[in-house]
Amino acid sequence: MTANTLNPITANDIVAVIGAGTMGAGIAQVAAKFGHTVLLYDKMEGAAQAGLDRTAKGLEKLVSRGKMTAADKDALVNRIQATENLSDLAPAKLVVEAIIENLAVKQSVFSELEALCSADTILATNTSSISVTAIGSALKRPENLVGMHFFNPAPIMKLVEVIKGLATSESVAQQVYDLSVAWGKHAVMAKSTPGFIVNRVARPFYAEGMRVLQEGGADEATIDAIAREAGQFRMGPFELMDLIGHDVNYAVTSSVFDAYYGDQRFLPSLIQKDLVEAGFHGRKTGRGFYDYSDHAEKPEAKTRAIQNAPTSITVEGEMGCAEPLIARIEAAGIKVHRSTEHDHNGRISIGDLVIALTDGRMATERASVAQRRQLVLFDLALDYSQATRIALTKADQTSEESLNQAAGLFQAIGMQVSVIDDIAGMVLMRTVAMLANEGADAVNQQVCSAKDVDIAMQSGVNYPQGPLAWADSVGLEQIHTVLTHLVNSYGEDRYRPSPLLRRKVFGAQTFHG
Ligand code: NAI
Repeated sequence: MTANTLNPITANDIVAVIGAGTMGAGIAQVAAKFGHTVLLYDKMEGAAQAGLDRTAKGLEKLVSRGKMTAADKDALVNRIQATENLSDLAPAKLVVEAIIENLAVKQSVFSELEALCSADTILATNTSSISVTAIGSALKRPENLVGMHFFNPAPIMKLVEVIKGLATSESVAQQVYDLSVAWGKHAVMAKSTPGFIVNRVARPFYAEGMRVLQEGGADEATIDAIAREAGQFRMGPFELMDLIGHDVNYAVTSSVFDAYYGDQRFLPSLIQKDLVEAGFHGRKTGRGFYDYSDHAEKPEAKTRAIQNAPTSITVEGEMGCAEPLIARIEAAGIKVHRSTEHDHNGRISIGDLVIALTDGRMATERASVAQRRQLVLFDLALDYSQATRIALTKADQTSEESLNQAAGLFQAIGMQVSVIDDIAGMVLMRTVAMLANEGADAVNQQVCSAKDVDIAMQSGVNYPQGPLAWADSVGLEQIHTVLTHLVNSYGEDRYRPSPLLRRKVFGAQTFHG
């Protein structure tokens, strides 16, 4: 039998893991938990045993917290055997490689394994950036090689990206997909392309934040607070980059940018390059965007002082995804008059002041086109019925008094208000539009399905909602309009709407219809 035949891997099959570092030791734990006998190999003397010891220590903590019994822990640890002989891996049905990120070294290890293991052994690589196709090119049986991309820490993070190289057989990919699900993971299937799904689609989360910062739209703490409190992301882009490390994050962006032949969508940021060159790599070096030294105070988000609430507002047209705001406004005791005469995108008016959701244009441009002096825009929120913060911006023509009136309205419904400078697409709207656009491009280029984009971003990087489902709920026409306006504002190819997004808009469809 060859690995090409669908032959499910079961708990009785032996799994080998090569490389007992951060990822390898975690993957061994995941496999042993399911019941496999796991052979853990590392070429560095003592490293396999050290990896196993780390795993045992981590599990002891779970036992002491009452999350696992001592007997289960012992049984799990006993199923992992550390070895320093590659030849011991011969009986494995699946070998997962998690060694140094180097094409030639990976090719040579897999070539040795091919000679050792049987013809139906599945060879899987945990590479996060090397082409599975390229690794497979050195093999006699490239059809047996597949990507099995875990996220750190492997026992906790739910996602596994199953990556098909050009020569990978469908059945091998399917077996690894099914096994990942059996291991309790959320598996997605993707073609071997730069960044796979997560490391590609996530780029705008960091990049758009850095662009707003670079243009002086808002400071790091304010952008992070908007992402957390309006977007419900667990961390804002700057605190997350500081945690990941700028050396790592910048290297990923640069490698994806290079791999796509300099596509402007992935253009790295000079701000981040500066941090890398300064050695300010984030938390691990004590300084990144923020200062982590002992007495440093974390800067606070800019928050507008409390303003007077209006007694009544008029809502013209349909508010779309921002409709839940209106119920909150009514619940706060503010009288709401509804006018159906206006058939464009909905807006709120208070006297001659108009308050509207950003459509990707600068407020100043939009006020000028509409020949309206008093215009305040608000940013996207994941859920307007719950958001605790909102970003506002005003046109240059608009008075501070009008801005304060708008701030008073949002404060009256329990939101903190962060006023940002007049940046096209504000913070969250441009970020979510670009995340969805990148996800749409991945689907359009046949890398993966729309469903898998959303699973990957929710399970791999903890996004509060998949970007394509989020775009559906905002309205694809709105997302498309935002991107088109960003193209106009910047004149940059970076913001070009994905052909698939355009098609969905013109076909009046959604990604998850
Ligand atoms: P690590 O540096 O913690 O561990 C690598 C281990 O591989 C070391 O113990 C080293 O001695 C061993 N090793 C190196 N060359 C070897 C060889 N020729 N044969 C056997 N063992 C060898 O690295 P880490 O972070 O665990 O990464 C491993 C792989 O996983 C890389 O391909 C990386 O890109 C990928 N990855 C890493 C993630 C992370 O967050 N650290 C996330 C997802 C994938």
